[in-house]
Amino acid sequence: MKQKNCLIFGGSGQIGRNLIRKLTKKNYKVMVVTRNIHQKSYIIKTQANAGYIDIIEANIFDEVKIRKLFDKADICINLIGILFEKKRGNTFRNIHSLFPGILAKLCKEYNLENFIHISALGINDAIDSEYAKSKLDGEKNILTNFPSATILRPSIVYSVDDNFTTNFMTLLNRMPFFPIYYNGKTKFMPIHCSDLTDIISHVIENNTNSQIIECVGPETISFKEILNKLLKLIEKKRALIPSPLFLAKFTAALFELFPQPLITRDQLRLLKYDNVLSKKYKNNLDIGVPSNRFFEAEVKKYCYMWKDGGQYATDKYQDK
Ligand SMILES: NC(=O)c1ccc[n+]([C@@H]2O[C@H](COP(=O)([O-])OP(=O)(O)OC[C@H]3O[C@@H](n4cnc5c(N)ncnc54)[C@H](OP(=O)(O)O)[C@@H]3O)[C@@H](O)[C@H]2O)c1
Repeated sequence: MKQKNCLIFGGSGQIGRNLIRKLTKKNYKVMVVTRNIHQKSYIIKTQANAGYIDIIEANIFDEVKIRKLFDKADICINLIGILFEKKRGNTFRNIHSLFPGILAKLCKEYNLENFIHISALGINDAIDSEYAKSKLDGEKNILTNFPSATILRPSIVYSVDDNFTTNFMTLLNRMPFFPIYYNGKTKFMPIHCSDLTDIISHVIENNTNSQIIECVGPETISFKEILNKLLKLIEKKRALIPSPLFLAKFTAALFELFPQPLITRDQLRLLKYDNVLSKKYKNNLDIGVPSNRFFEAEVKKYCYMWKDGGQYATDKYQDK
């Protein structure tokens, strides 16, 4: 059987790297587009055996260059997303709304088998968040240009390579107390990165076209519970102090002046809404790919890096 070729945008990120490992082990070939081959090629290339992976450096809006890649592709996967806007065209509108529409148009023109796009859970509800609105517009543009695309909407995705549990464990280590917003009551259904890439792989293998699928982990946990679990795992005690909204907005506005803000006012608005199944769309359970990985048990596998004593603080060494 002919080896299928997956064209991946955003393959250097958390989900992308896990997906490259999974797909190439299953004998798919991957073409990965990055903006910075000098910085990212090592991390991309080391995810797969030689011969399974091609890396292409491109500006994602250089349609002439990316068009050529569609000629060789069977499936296109878009993993590009941003949490805050930056200068030089890195806006929610460009990255989340217009770019996915361009990819969908090219998928249609080159008659690709599937276009899999990673959107986000809860975007219908978060009506005052620019992030959510732009993701929703992106979905609409995709479905207009390539109606048989598959759109996956994950809750928070975590793994040793994330910017979520790892950043929080660093901050919880360094700060004497930690502010929580909306009393830490916002609910999430965190999904392990490997469970999400199992879903992507299932969609590819079963040719699941034309669906919006919500992707969640097996538990519903509040923001405060997440922080408490992380504190327990790294064996630290910190006061979790509810921050009044006016103060939260003020600090977020200050953070926005930083090149990599810890939180923005838009993220603060997003945090108001529970990030759980809407029950209006199918979910990963419905398509036969339940998530089996539990948050605390998975983070336990890598949290030792944030513990005093590192690996020597793990049960394995403590027992001796
Ligand atoms: N992680 C989560 O908790 C989560 C939850 C819900 C939805 N999602 C969505 O899932 C997708 C993948 O998430 P992820 O966590 O793997 O993302 P990630 O680690 O942040 O990586 C995304 C990749 O996108 C590319 N990228 C970032 N900004 C870009 C820009 N301005 N222009 C062009 N390319 C850009 C980067 O590739 P290069 O630097 O190589 O070009 C980067 O490796 C995103 O769409 C995200 O919104 C993630």
